[in-house]
Amino acid sequence: TMTRFPLIPVRGVPLMNLIADNFDSVWDFCPDPSDLLIATYPKAGTTWTQEIVDLLIHNGDAEACKRAPTPIRSPFLEIVSPPPVPSGLDLLKTMDPPRVIKTHLPFQLVPPGFWENKCKTIYVARNAKDNLVSYYHFDLMNKTQPEPGPFDGYITKFMRGELSWGSWYDHVKDFWEEREKRNILYLFYEDMKENPRREVERIMRYLDLSCSDEVIDRIVDLTSFKKMKDNPMANYSCVPLPVFDTSISPFMRKGEVGDWKNHFTPEQSKMFDEDYEKQMKGFNIPFRTLI
Ligand code: PPS
Repeated sequence: TMTRFPLIPVRGVPLMNLIADNFDSVWDFCPDPSDLLIATYPKAGTTWTQEIVDLLIHNGDAEACKRAPTPIRSPFLEIVSPPPVPSGLDLLKTMDPPRVIKTHLPFQLVPPGFWENKCKTIYVARNAKDNLVSYYHFDLMNKTQPEPGPFDGYITKFMRGELSWGSWYDHVKDFWEEREKRNILYLFYEDMKENPRREVERIMRYLDLSCSDEVIDRIVDLTSFKKMKDNPMANYSCVPLPVFDTSISPFMRKGEVGDWKNHFTPEQSKMFDEDYEKQMKGFNIPFRTLI
C-alpha cells in the first residue's frame, strides 16, 4: 500500500507535504509572458480545459495532441510526486515558452510572476456539490491524497476548507474578485457541458486564435467526455503514476452535472446549502442552482 501524505498549511492553505516543502521555489517561479495559466480547484474541469487549449493551439490536430500525456504536455506547476515522476518545476525547466501551465493553487498562492508578466489565465469553476463528489472519488483512488473517510465527514472537511488545496469557497471567490483586474477568463464546468462549442469559442477568442468552424466542431468532438475517456493521452491511464488506483475509480469517472444527487442525502444537502449561503454571501458568482 502507498503512503498517504500529510497536509501542511502554507499561509493557511493545507497542501500535501511534498508540495508544502517545495513551495518557496514555486513562489519564485517566473513564467514567460507568453505562458498560459489554467487555474482550478481540484476536479473542476482542469484536464478537459487543458485538452481544449492544446487542440486550439494545434488547430485541431488530434495526432499532435497525442504526442504525450496531459501532465507532460501541460505541466502541473506545484506538483511534487514521489520519484520517479519529475516535479512540475523540473518539467517546466525542460520546456520552452509558450507553455500551458496547470495549477490548483488558490489566488493568494499563485506565484506573483504570473501577474507581473500579465500571463493569460483561464479559471474553471464547478458547482460545489459536484466538485466535492468528484474530489471524494479522486481521494479514494489517489493514494497521495489524504484518506477521504466516510462521505459525511468529507462534506464537513470540504465546508471547513480542510481538504488539499484548501477552501473551495475561497478559491472560487478570490479568482472571481480578481478576474477583471487580471484579465482572467472565468469559465464554468456546467456551461461547458451545456454548450461546449460556445465555451470552446470563448477560449479561442481569449487566446487570440481563430479556427475554422470545421476545426471547432472537431475540437468539441475530441474533447467530449467519451472521446477523452478513451484517449490514453488524456485519461491519465498511461501516466506512470503508481499513486492512482484506477480499480477504485477511473480518472475520467462520470463527467456529468448533478451527480451529487446520487451522494448527498436530503439532510446533508440542506445543511450544505445553509452553510453555502453564509460562505458565498455577497458574491454573485453565477453557479447554476442545482435543486
Ligand atoms: S484534476 O485532478 O484536478 O486535474 O481533475 P479535473 O480534470 O479538474 O477534474 C476531473 C473531473 O472532470 C471530469 N472530466 C470531464 N467532464 C466532462 N467532459 C470532459 N471531457 C471531461 N474530462 C474530464 C472528470 O470525469 C472528473 O469529474 P467526475 O465528476 O469525477 O467524473
